[in-house]
Amino acid sequence: MNILVIGSGGREHALSWALTRSEGVDVVYCVPGNPGIPPDGEPIGGRVDDFDGLVDLVRRIDAGLTVVGPEAPLCDGIVDRFEAEGLAVVGPTKAAARLEGSKVFAKEFMSRHVIPTAAFGWFDDRQAALDYAKERQGRVVVKADGLAAGKGVTVCHSMIEVEAALEETMGRHRFGAAGDRVVIEELLEGQEASFMVLCDGERVVPLASAQDHKPLLDGDQGPNTGGMGAYSPAPVLTADLEQQVLDTIVWPTVRGMAKEGWPYHGVLYVGLMLTEFGPKVLEYNCRFGDPETQPVLMRLDQDLLPLLEGTRTGLSTQPVLWKPQTAICVVMASKGYPGAYDKGLPIAGIEEADGMDDVKVFRAGVALDDGASISSRKIAAASGTRSLVTAGGRVLGVTALGRDVAAARDLAYAAVAKIHWTGAQYRRDIAAKALPKD
Ligand code: AMP
Ligand code: GLY
Repeated sequence: MNILVIGSGGREHALSWALTRSEGVDVVYCVPGNPGIPPDGEPIGGRVDDFDGLVDLVRRIDAGLTVVGPEAPLCDGIVDRFEAEGLAVVGPTKAAARLEGSKVFAKEFMSRHVIPTAAFGWFDDRQAALDYAKERQGRVVVKADGLAAGKGVTVCHSMIEVEAALEETMGRHRFGAAGDRVVIEELLEGQEASFMVLCDGERVVPLASAQDHKPLLDGDQGPNTGGMGAYSPAPVLTADLEQQVLDTIVWPTVRGMAKEGWPYHGVLYVGLMLTEFGPKVLEYNCRFGDPETQPVLMRLDQDLLPLLEGTRTGLSTQPVLWKPQTAICVVMASKGYPGAYDKGLPIAGIEEADGMDDVKVFRAGVALDDGASISSRKIAAASGTRSLVTAGGRVLGVTALGRDVAAARDLAYAAVAKIHWTGAQYRRDIAAKALPKD
């Protein structure tokens, strides 16, 4: 069977890499993909928002299953369209994807089903939003209602910060219409963890726990990003806590969605804050996390395809098999990210890092080097490698598997040390929180 993976980042590279190894899979095509994905998949260009084009493509390449990486096509209804065309696709419908696509929908849904989350209000009116935040002395989180590529959330500790956040979202419309309505919620304290489950509308199969590192700089300083690294498992999510998350959050969510008439199929990602009053939902995502997927799939010890197909046709109740080791993904990003950054800088050392045992370099924001001399391209082609340049904010996800957190960290950073481009930045403390304290 051929498969189509939609998206172009490190998560999609990891999905393609795992699916290429699945039994019965011939070719994994990626739209648009990126030129660092081969030989783990075939990037074929194209647009993820052109549903007509995607439907034609699936028929042309005879894909038996489409796996959607990013949230935007899911929130725009790609699953509804594919299903109407009789095409097999993994993911929630447009109505179910509102768990991620509208923070107001998600918060009201949680209220209806008594799912633990931060206290909140939602506002179309800036003054009313300010009044609500003032009652909480500015210790609140301001969130644009709609999709804002992970950047629509500002954690505030004072009214000055709240005013600035509201000016960005509601005043200057930094996130367009997504910020015309805002959610303001109570500031929660604790450790964060990511919990992903597969759902078939009724049943749930948990994936391995993970922890993301959203802030740009070491020690969780600096602006929030899409994610600067991740590791799996997250020891902070103990077996007891995981059961509590399933009982108080995941099951009520899946049952609630089914009861309201939009059964949830696909991957449900719950972003958690582990507070002193128990786990609470920070956000839902309607898809695999990026970069959590990279270390999680590196630990997967069984075929991915039947798991994904199960979200459409019925999941087996067998627990998923995981390698007992720890996997750590260190994201290498362009200088300037998450703000404006340069592109087109040649990257050295990827192949060397990728050749290390138990290391996999997932490629994200990369392009082929148009400026490379023909001879160097020929050499690269003859050796089966491609000369890559930077083309995005998050460029690579250097992922390593080790017998424990310390070993996985050492290996991941040894691999990172082999890779160079001008201005590459990465956090030095990925998974440091998970190191045993002595
Ligand atoms: P979100 O996109 O909603 O997950 O928010 C992005 C990041 O903002 C989260 O990973 C948290 O670090 C932080 N955050 C969101 N909501 C809250 C909250 N209620 N309290 C504290 N931090 C939050
Ligand atoms: N790593 C967070 C996300 O995928 O949204």
